[in-house]
Amino acid sequence: RAAARADAPPLPVPPLIEPDGNGVVKLRLGKGRHAFRVGSEAASAGVNGSYLGPLLRLENGARVTLAVENALGEETTMHWHGLFVPSRLDGGPHNIIKPGETWSPEVTIDQPPSFNWFHPHMHGDTARQAHMGLAGLIVVTDGKDGERGLPQSYGIDDLPLVLQDRRVIEGEDVYAPDLMDLIHGFRGDILIVNGVEGPVAAVPKGIVRLRLLNGANARNFHLRLSDGRPLHVFASDGGFVAAPGPVSRLTVAPGERYECLVDFSGGSAVDLLTLADDEETGEELHVMRFVPDAGLPVAVTAIPARLEDPGMPDPSLSIRRRSFVFDERLAANMALMKAPSGQMESGHGMAGMHSGHDMGSMEMEGMHDMDHSMHQGRSAGDAGAPVAALASGVRMAMAGEPFDMNHIDVEAKLGSFEIWELQTQEMAHPFHIHGASFRILTKNGEPPVPHEAGWKDVALINGRAELLIRFDREADRDHPFMFHCHILEHEDVGMMAQFVTV
Ligand code: C2O
Ligand code: CU
Ligand code: CU
Repeated sequence: RAAARADAPPLPVPPLIEPDGNGVVKLRLGKGRHAFRVGSEAASAGVNGSYLGPLLRLENGARVTLAVENALGEETTMHWHGLFVPSRLDGGPHNIIKPGETWSPEVTIDQPPSFNWFHPHMHGDTARQAHMGLAGLIVVTDGKDGERGLPQSYGIDDLPLVLQDRRVIEGEDVYAPDLMDLIHGFRGDILIVNGVEGPVAAVPKGIVRLRLLNGANARNFHLRLSDGRPLHVFASDGGFVAAPGPVSRLTVAPGERYECLVDFSGGSAVDLLTLADDEETGEELHVMRFVPDAGLPVAVTAIPARLEDPGMPDPSLSIRRRSFVFDERLAANMALMKAPSGQMESGHGMAGMHSGHDMGSMEMEGMHDMDHSMHQGRSAGDAGAPVAALASGVRMAMAGEPFDMNHIDVEAKLGSFEIWELQTQEMAHPFHIHGASFRILTKNGEPPVPHEAGWKDVALINGRAELLIRFDREADRDHPFMFHCHILEHEDVGMMAQFVTV
């Protein structure tokens, strides 16, 4: 399974768009049909098309109107994941766009060059909407990549790669998560890049920049190149990393971005592989193939020796410490309420979530609430109700309490730094925070690996981690910022909380 298919399609490159003369970018959300594999077509959704969307290139300092037209026939939101904007423009669950309406936030781009993205954030329904294909890319540029010696010919030596997975049942692409999918996150067995399975990218015989985004609902990608050549990672979520360098294996969690350089000057083709989801087996899956093409122009022939120092802050800046637990037991209970009917009685999904962890009194209280709401769910007999039915009244523990759209979990001082300690239980969770950037201080007591040492907004937590968070942007009470697990099924069952700045 780790080999390229003979009939592999070329890598699709998302169209590059820029604001028009009036600073306006038009994004139309609509439905369609999409074939991610020959003979396997499915209902889909996209931005300015039928699956995924464009790459939006925005100059730092620009003032831009992002006109999002909702032609989906259902409610949604559009969140600018990684853009530093005030919360009322952030597109979180409080910024609902009704069917037929256009939401036009005016944003000022004010951040370092970085690779970001956008996707819906409709509470309780994000996983399904994103899986249909509603996502696009954002590049913030300062126009200086040429001086830095970085490749900058979009679609030639600067390639965005959106990594996702799909599940096919009897020839149909199906998103119908069962109880176990809701508990562990929905994973497919077919890997797609920019919307197609196992594509081939023709690349120049020089240095190529890959902008990697894990746009999957739940799967982690653990990437490597088949001939052992390194990925030179130079940027992550928030821009340049503190110590760029070659890595042989790169883990990219849902929502996370990395930019790396790969040397194709030797002229040989190479496959991008990932470890299978169950990492322990060591099995590798084929993601895509790169084939050097002497006909393509070579602009960059050497990996730049130095890039800007991102200027990481010192932990002594922190004015307070908070701790959070990813409460898997609570999430499993929520999953039980949401799972298709008939799966509730078995309850087998919860077994693994109980095992002997001291949950602490705060979570036990949360647990009590959950049991209560679960019983309500049962008596109402609505276990098979659609996701959206849970949108209100569901509270969940990231902050020791169940999530509630109307409850502010954290107040942070605008412009301040805090240390947040995050703890998982049985599985790894990708933590993400809106309107703030962080530095990873420790993961299980150790400093982060060099490519995780820059500014980030997603970090895969497996055990205990400490983050130094900078609260950059203003959040008002009507539009709090979210922090949550970026496994979208977890986010939807409420592994999420919200903060405002004061
Ligand atoms: Cu990428 Cu709150 O999201
Ligand atoms: Cu986000
Ligand atoms: Cu999670």
